[in-house]
Amino acid sequence: RKQEKLDLIAQRVRAIPDFPKKGILFRDICPILKDPGAVAAVIDLFEEYVRQTNLDIDLIVGLDARGFLFGPLLAQRLGVGFVLVRKKGKLPGPTVSVSYCLEYGKAELEIQEDAVSAGQKVMLIDDLLATGGTLAATCDLMTQKQATVLGCLVVIELKELKGAEKLGTHRLFSLLQY
Ligand code: PRP
Ligand code: ADE
Repeated sequence: RKQEKLDLIAQRVRAIPDFPKKGILFRDICPILKDPGAVAAVIDLFEEYVRQTNLDIDLIVGLDARGFLFGPLLAQRLGVGFVLVRKKGKLPGPTVSVSYCLEYGKAELEIQEDAVSAGQKVMLIDDLLATGGTLAATCDLMTQKQATVLGCLVVIELKELKGAEKLGTHRLFSLLQY
């Protein structure tokens, strides 16, 4: 059952060389989204992990932009709210921000000041972990807000970039590893 779901998801990930820059092998998750069965498999496996680990999650926090594709579906399944972490300049009202580096550039992330409150327990979600810069920066944002990061969920982990190490003690759950 579980292996069948993983196989289906793996079949729906496409590798595209030299995007967005020469030398980067881009792992494209768009084919997953075109297949409702594959999307359901992703959410099933994330849900199963969260339930098995008995994590008491207050909020799912999703990363701009591809974390938004899976995060709200999982949050709905778990019956918890969803919060957006966005690239700088996209969110209205007072925000808190942090800058970070990624596999092919540098950027700044923001959340709304009232999105997460002190003491809340959050689970972070994105499509892919590369260098870990994006998720590590988001962990910093959560810490700034005095929220507790219970862990990070990703569909794909690019092992050789050692992003899991950058997450320090925060636990990582990935469905596929390359
Ligand atoms: C990609 C991916 C992750 C991040 C991973 O997003 O969706 O968010 O890179 O890289 P890292 O582990 O090295 O930080 P990208 O910044 O390309 O933005 P997008 O989702 O808006 O396309
Ligand atoms: N984000 C950072 N590195 C990536 C890669 N190789 N494929 C897809 N998204 C990415």
